[in-house]
Amino acid sequence: MKKIHTAWTLALLLVAASASQAQAVDPLHARSWAAGCANCHGTNGRAEPGMESLAGVSQEDIVKKMQDYKTGRRPATLMHQISKGYSDDQIQAIAAYFAAQKK
Ligand code: HEC
Repeated sequence: MKKIHTAWTLALLLVAASASQAQAVDPLHARSWAAGCANCHGTNGRAEPGMESLAGVSQEDIVKKMQDYKTGRRPATLMHQISKGYSDDQIQAIAAYFAAQKK
């Protein structure tokens, strides 16, 4: 009986551990999502002249603009479509990645 109890406790602990891991985004995921922005916004968000850089822009600012593109509040030629391809969690992670890059 004691053995079964121990096994259950262990199983519950494992479930709890994997659930809490799922909430934090893997930094490598964030980096590869952010790489999808590089064609236009430059490697690590440092754009060529004439294009908006994302490197060093605050997370809040990027999230706000992405959400506004998603909902159509902010006019766009491309970003309204691109922003719809990412979940809110992904946008948070991508924005945090760019905010942490040097300008
Ligand atoms: C195919 C090119 C392209 C890609 C890829 C792209 N963008 Fe953009 N981005 C644009 C263009 C063009 C604009 C100007 C608004 C418009 O016309 O859509 C813009 C504007 C923005 C702005 C607003 C900049 C400002 O301050 O005015 C943000 C924030 C942004 N993009 C974030 C992203 C993120 C994050 C990604 C990756 C998930 C991304 N973009 C991928 C082309 C692109």
